[in-house]
Amino acid sequence: MYSFIRTFKLKLLIYLLALTALAVFLKSDFTDWLQLQLQSQSLCACEKCLSEDNLLALHRLRGLEEPFLSVNTTLSEDAFNWWKLIQGEQRDFFYYRATVQKLFELFPPVADLKKPSSDSCRTCAVVGNSVNLKGTHYGPLIDFQDVVMRMNAAPIKGYESDVGTKTTHRVMYPESAVDLDHSTHLVLFPFKIQDLEWLIKAFTTGFFGRSYAPLKTKIKANRDLVMVINPAFMKYVHQIWLENKGDYPSTGFMALILALQICDEVHVFGYGADDDGNWSHYFEILPIKQFKTGPHPGQHEYAVIQQLAKNGTVTFYKGR
Ligand code: C5P
Repeated sequence: MYSFIRTFKLKLLIYLLALTALAVFLKSDFTDWLQLQLQSQSLCACEKCLSEDNLLALHRLRGLEEPFLSVNTTLSEDAFNWWKLIQGEQRDFFYYRATVQKLFELFPPVADLKKPSSDSCRTCAVVGNSVNLKGTHYGPLIDFQDVVMRMNAAPIKGYESDVGTKTTHRVMYPESAVDLDHSTHLVLFPFKIQDLEWLIKAFTTGFFGRSYAPLKTKIKANRDLVMVINPAFMKYVHQIWLENKGDYPSTGFMALILALQICDEVHVFGYGADDDGNWSHYFEILPIKQFKTGPHPGQHEYAVIQQLAKNGTVTFYKGR
């Protein structure tokens, strides 16, 4: 009887040991398998993909518009009527449509965009022009991202250690335009029909019209890399992201929301007013101190960016 109990205990022990070993083996195998499954279902190869972000999904659901104009874009009259008010456009919808037609005889009919894919992680740096970039040494971190989006005429030379050297996309409007090298995308934010005309003429015959600030007659840039923002996207940003606050969104804020649409991961640098509430630049002393944030809802834009950072949608670099 005693030997029977001993044999039984031994068998039970062996059985339990075997069961534990199997469980440990299966657990590690199962974790690997689960990870593989998650990766294969993920929409990009980053740790967290923007296309899976809940806050972003919510804002998209509320009426996302195509960010770029293409030959096939049909702008609604409603969006046109919003857009024409922001800089006092006098000409009508038909004139707008005819100008857009001409635009796509010269520039790529569809913007050159990489779609998200499960085997790539497209990281972006969006670089605003805030004075808070000074002395940060963010340069290498900015250059480390796949896409580097810069704004207007912001210089690089002399500021490399804080702002980096790489530019893949330069966001601009005619009054803030600069020449680009052959590999940089020119991303035009049009605020009036004349801005579209300027783009066509600055690449061809030269533009000789006037505006509220001096305009470049000609621009040097690669015309195959030109992208033009859809006015309906601007309205979407104003309405959905800024709840119609201010006259219209700043170029920098729209560029950030654009990055949320075209990147898998977004790193935000150079946003934030100085202590007096002015949008001071890292490269100059502001000539007009009372400018604050102009017609844009600067404080609200900053609050939304902070919310995005808190939610983990973007990584925000506060500067100094
Ligand atoms: O001043 P500028 O328009 O060239 O700057 C580009 C963008 O950077 C602005 O539209 C704004 O969104 C952002 N900016 C900022 N804080 C500053 C300066 C600029 O957030 N101090």
